[in-house]
Amino acid sequence: MMRYAARSGLRVWAWLGSRPPGQVLAPAAAMDLGPLRKSYRGDKEAFEEKHLASFDPIKQFAVWFEEAMQCPSIGEANAMCLATCTRDGRPSARMVLLKGFSHNGFRFFTNHESRKGKELDSNPFASVVFYWEPLNRQVRLEGSVERLPEEESEHYFHSRPRSSQIGAVVSRQSTVIPDREYLRKKNTELEELYREGTVPKPAYWGGYILKPDVVEFWQGQTNRLHDRIVFRRLRDAAAPTGLMTHKGEGNWVYERLAP
Ligand SMILES: Cc1cc2nc3c(=O)[nH]c(=O)nc-3n(C[C@H](O)[C@H](O)[C@H](O)COP(=O)(O)O)c2cc1C
Repeated sequence: MMRYAARSGLRVWAWLGSRPPGQVLAPAAAMDLGPLRKSYRGDKEAFEEKHLASFDPIKQFAVWFEEAMQCPSIGEANAMCLATCTRDGRPSARMVLLKGFSHNGFRFFTNHESRKGKELDSNPFASVVFYWEPLNRQVRLEGSVERLPEEESEHYFHSRPRSSQIGAVVSRQSTVIPDREYLRKKNTELEELYREGTVPKPAYWGGYILKPDVVEFWQGQTNRLHDRIVFRRLRDAAAPTGLMTHKGEGNWVYERLAP
């Protein structure tokens, strides 16, 4: 049975009772999310150029990341949405965990044969978004992606909890499997197989490093005049720039974009 619920001005069709398998829910058009609106920050808390902790976007990221880590209501500050693309430009996105960053780039680990892995093989560019909702902030990165050296993947693989190591062997990520029982069975078999020795890192599992050319710092404002400060890495530091473009550290320049 469908019931209409009005909550905080939001019209939602709620499904009541258990739904038999295969039964179709009400069409998406029944969900009106138009009035769903949250207050962000006031103008006094705006993020202005004078508030940049550094003119180096990696150092600036480190400051915002630390603030996200310290924020008790952010569960996983290192969770990021990673978008990749096929060679012919069809995008796909999913969450992954950032496992380290430096001036060399931003590191994450996954299965090289997964959908994202295959897309990165054929189109080695990606974009990443962090959204730290309690801080009304997002950070967007864009750049080229390379595989990490095998030793680094090996080192990280063995630093993970044993159950995660086995999990990586169990799952040929992104392939079709018959049911959950298939995973359970394979997991039990592998736990038995590797009961004593070390779990070998599968060749298809490893890390990537995204080397950003663009880093955007976004902070939301209640009146929708959001702050957007975007750093771009110039190939040629001596290249002429516009009047509204400011010099950052190294080859970086930064600009404010309209929200
Ligand atoms: C918060 C969060 C963190 C995740 N971290 C990772 C990760 O670090 N590596 C990974 O391979 N999958 C991670 N996943 C699972 C991916 O979102 C995704 O299901 C998986 O990588 C397969 O994606 P693909 O088929 O597009 O390649 C995470 C999921 C969530 C929700």
